[in-house]
Amino acid sequence: MNKKKIKHFIILAVFCSLFQVYGQETTKYSIIPLTEKLKPIEGEFIIDNQTVIFDNSKQNKADASLFIQSLNDIYQIKPVLINTKPKSNFLQIDYCKSMQIDAYKLEVNKNNIKIRGGKNGVFYAFQSLLQLVKKDDQGKISIPCVKIKDKPRFQWRGMHLDVSRHFFSKDVVKKYIGRMAFYKMNTFHWHLTDDQGWRIEIKKYPLLTQKGSWRKGTVVGHAGYSKTFDTIPYGGFYTQDDIREIVAYATERHINIVPEIEMPGHAVAALSAYPQFSCKGNVNGVEKNWGVFNDVFCSKEETFTFLQDILDEVITLFPSKVIHIGGDECPKEEWKKCSVCQANMKKMGLKDEMQLQSYFIQRIEKYLNSKGRTIIGWDEILEGGLAPNAMVMSWRGTEGGIEAAHLKHDVVMTPGKYCYFDHYQSDPEDEPLAIGGFTTVSKIHEYDPAPKTLPKNVRKYIKGVQGNVWTEYIPSDSHLEYMVFPRLLSMAEIQWTTVKRKSYPDFAKRLTAHYSLFNKLGINASMSFFDTYMKIEQNKDSNGIVVSLSNSIPDSKIKYTLLVSKDNIQQNAYSYPIYLTENCILKYNSIIDSYQGKSKTIKFNINKATGKPLIFIEKPSKYYGDGSGFCLVDGIVPLSQNDNKRWMTWSDNNAEIISDLKSTQTISSVSIATFTDTLRHILKPKTVKVFVSENGNEYNEVKNSLITFNGDLTNITFDKENNIRYVKIIAENAGKIKLPNSNKEEYSWIFIGEIIIE
Ligand code: ACM
Ligand code: ZN
Repeated sequence: MNKKKIKHFIILAVFCSLFQVYGQETTKYSIIPLTEKLKPIEGEFIIDNQTVIFDNSKQNKADASLFIQSLNDIYQIKPVLINTKPKSNFLQIDYCKSMQIDAYKLEVNKNNIKIRGGKNGVFYAFQSLLQLVKKDDQGKISIPCVKIKDKPRFQWRGMHLDVSRHFFSKDVVKKYIGRMAFYKMNTFHWHLTDDQGWRIEIKKYPLLTQKGSWRKGTVVGHAGYSKTFDTIPYGGFYTQDDIREIVAYATERHINIVPEIEMPGHAVAALSAYPQFSCKGNVNGVEKNWGVFNDVFCSKEETFTFLQDILDEVITLFPSKVIHIGGDECPKEEWKKCSVCQANMKKMGLKDEMQLQSYFIQRIEKYLNSKGRTIIGWDEILEGGLAPNAMVMSWRGTEGGIEAAHLKHDVVMTPGKYCYFDHYQSDPEDEPLAIGGFTTVSKIHEYDPAPKTLPKNVRKYIKGVQGNVWTEYIPSDSHLEYMVFPRLLSMAEIQWTTVKRKSYPDFAKRLTAHYSLFNKLGINASMSFFDTYMKIEQNKDSNGIVVSLSNSIPDSKIKYTLLVSKDNIQQNAYSYPIYLTENCILKYNSIIDSYQGKSKTIKFNINKATGKPLIFIEKPSKYYGDGSGFCLVDGIVPLSQNDNKRWMTWSDNNAEIISDLKSTQTISSVSIATFTDTLRHILKPKTVKVFVSENGNEYNEVKNSLITFNGDLTNITFDKENNIRYVKIIAENAGKIKLPNSNKEEYSWIFIGEIIIE
């Protein structure tokens, strides 16, 4: 080895050994969110029946009491709280006025544990401690020695919960808040009102809950396709006593609750109870469907009195300085037709309905400001002019937030792409129905709400970041947990930890360690974090396709089995892409510690069209498929009719596709995957015709063709054709279909999921 090589070798060796230690430390000290500074120390502090907690502060000792309660709940041990300092085997806490409110220092030694922190910081130190506790098989409870100095990056560390689309009981809401606190979040955004249900008791307007908290049924399946509704009455609300109890529970855990009362849109439930505050004066009842609806609050004077009365009660229940007034997705159709709204616009010199929306929000802001409160609204409140003191919650992207920050308004970032927990977290084919989207643990972790690319004087207005949980497709408590965990931990980390400290591979290791805590706490966390993703590409050199497997956990193993025939079964740890040139079954899964993701079994039909180019003569819909149309020749006949990426679709036209086999071949059959679902207006094609060509210029229709159906496959067999390079398939649209419960007709859709040529 020459000198340079030796030097490199030493650096590499040191790096590897450091990495090993770092790996072990990561799981021993797997605190989420990652701390600012953590110094491992040799040894451990043992918690036994003699361990005491010494708190001589003037505080109400709520933080220590909650710690003892959690320790007892998780590890069945209950240290005693005392006022005089013992010699050893104690935990001492000191509230420190000079420290930043959320900051803390924690030192765990063999003899004692010391916590110093700001008003909230002590509580956060306790959460770190709880995450460090280990209980071994003999029942020994210990905490590894460590020195920690910690404080958060952002001051608004939020989670939102929509209780209108589906209602969650008082106890579920408390559990949600408790778990937020465990991960050092401090703001619970409670979405209490929407079109599908009003959920907060207002004494002055009892019909809001008597009528407005109940709907007569709910859409079945995805509102994007479904036209059916059940007839099961659905409802629920929180009494003012419930709310006081939840606010007290949150306050103990250093969480501020920001209530949201939606206006001027998303108001159907309220207007069903009090239709006099709509433009038309009548409304069809609490919404049973999900979406955006035209019935919104009218700008008449009486509406403002009504809303101000409601807000009066809201602010007596919620101590929060900030009140969320919604402001999103307000259609202007009714305002355009309403003589009162139009007269108001004229009187106040408002040039369009956007300005009327701005007027609406500004009036409410003025009222709440007069009561010592401020407003926050979704980014639509920028339209028509932002209210002077309003905070903005940026959800349609980050542009609204950045614009507001430029205008010197405080901002909370919640862009859908990174912060919406109603999105899928793994392959939709294997997941419970969700609204759409794809927001994984790693995608959330990658998000920086206040990137260095923004000027400093803009960044300083970005007060934090929040995860939003809309519950249209989240009907139960266990499903709520499934959608929230483990993604909440990723959100917690971007809220607390600086970009400089944040590392995804390190986070993934700590997150894996947290699954044992999920078990102890009885959290129904999704295991999708451990799932394996398959990518299929054309084999550029030969026939068939190339399959790559990946997951989002560093240092994990992907195991796969490839079954080609009885005598050809390959079992391997995945390291390189797999080439598939004949029919086979591929099974795979990721294994990490004692966890695994979903085991997948994929049947590949490798045929003459697989991996070959397609030409779309009739343009497919851009809302379905994978963009390129490769999904039709990837060797997979879709198993699910709901996985939009796997189906290319055509409405009011025929599907006309040419497959280029790249060389001349002999063929005698074409099959396409299609299906019928009248509720979604999807019909199998009326006819399927096949034309063939050697050169791509002149096509002849195949002879003696015969159509047969085999499940979702439509098979066309015909007399053998030799020297064929191009195969044109014309699937004829089945025509118009009558809409259910209506006399209207609409063109049907053709869905094609795979093309097989033999
Ligand atoms: C929203 O998601 N409509 C704020
Ligand atoms: Zn009106």
